Amino acid sequence: MAYKRVELNYNYDDLEPYIDKETMKIHYENHHKGYETKLNELLNGTVYEKKFNMLLDLMKNYQEIEEPDLRVKVRQFGGGLINHNFFFAHLKKGTTLKDGNLKKAIIDKYGSVEEMMKQFEEKSLSLFGSGWTYLVVTKTGELKIIMTFNQDNPWFLGFKPIFCLDVWEHAYYLKHNSARDIYIKDFWNVLDWEKAKENFETLKNS
Ligand SMILES: [Fe+2]
Repeated sequence: MAYKRVELNYNYDDLEPYIDKETMKIHYENHHKGYETKLNELLNGTVYEKKFNMLLDLMKNYQEIEEPDLRVKVRQFGGGLINHNFFFAHLKKGTTLKDGNLKKAIIDKYGSVEEMMKQFEEKSLSLFGSGWTYLVVTKTGELKIIMTFNQDNPWFLGFKPIFCLDVWEHAYYLKHNSARDIYIKDFWNVLDWEKAKENFETLKNS
């Protein structure tokens, strides 16, 4: 397959008790695999199959797809693949945000890390339906908390992501049921802050 799911560098139960093993398994093996399979099926045999070297290029430029139906489906399934690749690659239990440029930028923008987290939680809670919350860097280099609907993502919107949270019910309903607020708070225990910090350093220099 041309476009692939990220490989997990942790076990399904490594994020317990914040994200449970069963949710991780279903999320990765069913939902995420579904996006991967469907995207590749859609592009198979089309001129777009090999036009873009990487999933990132495909998603940044998906508007170039001329056929309306295919364009919409690539937005949905390619978006699902790239969003989940990013989300799953940024999960790790027990990290903290150490001093550095990301922490400094967050404090400069929000006053404190806690205030950024509070606003991120509020944004995630306010999302109606399914979507994602992202901390991104804008074109002008500012930090911003954004919400995307369904499988829309920051790449085609021109933002550079630092970290994200899946706010689809499939990401939490098995364990948290309708308690989205608890799921969002639990997320801070499994966000890989080290990777988020690295992302910011890389983006700052790009
Ligand atoms: Fe998901």
